Amino acid sequence: MRRLVIVSNRVAEPERQAAGGLAVCILDGLLERGGVWFGWSGDIVADESGIGVSCTRRDNVTVVTMPLTERDYAEYYLGYCNAALWPVHHYRLDLARFTQENTEAYRRVNERFAEELAPILTKTDVVWAHDYHLIALAAGLRSRGVRNRLGFFLHIPFPPPDVLMAVPEHEWLVDSFLQYDVIGFQTKMDQSNFCRFVCEHAGGEMISDDTLRAGGRIVTVSAFPVGINVDAFAEMASSAEAQKRIRWLHRCGEPRLNIIGVDRLDYTKGLPDRFRSFKRFLELHPENCKAATLMQIAPPTREEVKAYCDIRHELEALSGEINGQFGDFDWTPVRYVHRSVPRDTLAALYRGSQIGLVTPLRDGMNLVAKEYIAAQDPENPGVLILSRFAGAAEDLQEALIVNPYDVDEVAQAIHKAVIMPLEERKQRHAALLAKIREHDACNWMASFLRALDAPPIPMAA
Ligand code: UDP
Ligand code: G6P
Repeated sequence: MRRLVIVSNRVAEPERQAAGGLAVCILDGLLERGGVWFGWSGDIVADESGIGVSCTRRDNVTVVTMPLTERDYAEYYLGYCNAALWPVHHYRLDLARFTQENTEAYRRVNERFAEELAPILTKTDVVWAHDYHLIALAAGLRSRGVRNRLGFFLHIPFPPPDVLMAVPEHEWLVDSFLQYDVIGFQTKMDQSNFCRFVCEHAGGEMISDDTLRAGGRIVTVSAFPVGINVDAFAEMASSAEAQKRIRWLHRCGEPRLNIIGVDRLDYTKGLPDRFRSFKRFLELHPENCKAATLMQIAPPTREEVKAYCDIRHELEALSGEINGQFGDFDWTPVRYVHRSVPRDTLAALYRGSQIGLVTPLRDGMNLVAKEYIAAQDPENPGVLILSRFAGAAEDLQEALIVNPYDVDEVAQAIHKAVIMPLEERKQRHAALLAKIREHDACNWMASFLRALDAPPIPMAA
């Protein structure tokens, strides 16, 4: 088997919680197959004199990382990746900020990744880059003579052409995508948005359902929905340790109805709307007061970006308001935890909760939705309420699908979940479980690598 080299900005570290879908799904697949994982160490150094790669071994994975300079961290990571590309790709042009310096920093860091990576590649390596931080990596590798097939997977949504056009150098960005041989998206909608851009605005043409001819190259473009390791997660949720945690959860404050939400504290996750929906549910169905608790795990993320500070303040005010208005000596309606929680604890929390509330305003896939399903007891499963704007909703139609902007609709869905008969819960859960098994972490990696391994289609085809 050829050596697999994964490249991503974020690399999972054993001692740090991997609060983010990218690190979780790569780690699951890579530990099984083995290979190299190249990316940012998470360290920030004063200037370029402090940059050098370091190498560690974790089981059968060699992890090669390098730091970012203070300037790169500010301009490339916070500035271009998270204050320009992230909001645009999540359809939030109102939050996007563009500067020439940040665009330059993005080019510079992609070049540096290519400069450090090229010398450690062999001719037979399978190279697979991940996510919006590294769209320009392939061009950097090509200009250094790398001839390997290069794959790219975008973990976040790809917006419609009109939205992408708000990025000042969007033509360059799309050309950069086209330097890869295989481009993977989370959903068919993302794939179609990308192909529409290339065909309508970049002179490309589709030569089959998933093959584009553009800029003198042939590129495979397809949807490969990410997944989780279902059995491993289910085992974590039913371990003796998890049972102990669930009993504890059910004891504290005696809530009979646990609703769980787990999201990085990101404005794309729709947390204020979710809290308002929960409040509306208590107003419309007061018989649930003293019984219902919304446990929201929301670890901090990208806190130096203003929009993330704002959302934190908004959410803290809202949870205070709801607890002040509805809470009592013996009942706290909203339990808000602003820190990262280990996945095995999450598994227990999911299993001990009758409702999983996953209501992002826009999301690439959303692994939490899949983890909630995997963690349930098939004989007495909880109900997943899922936003139509999460990539996961393209497949998981047996969830209660909601419009997260519509507070009343989500409140009614919570009520529907509360009163749903056991038989219906079991049927929906069985259907959902079959789907997350079909698209699990292993299949995701295997199907992408199959596409990357396929012989190139000749230009004349
Ligand atoms: N996660 C975690 N601890 C936390 C919060 C989240 O380990 O405190 C994990 C969660 O179990 C899931 C991932 O982080 O595997 C989040 O992935 P998702 O696709 O839902 O969202 P993303 O953060 O990638 O936008
Ligand atoms: C999402 C992105 C990942 C990112 C993760 C955590 O899952 O798709 O690329 O790694 O969020 O964000 P961070 O900025 O901490 O890497």
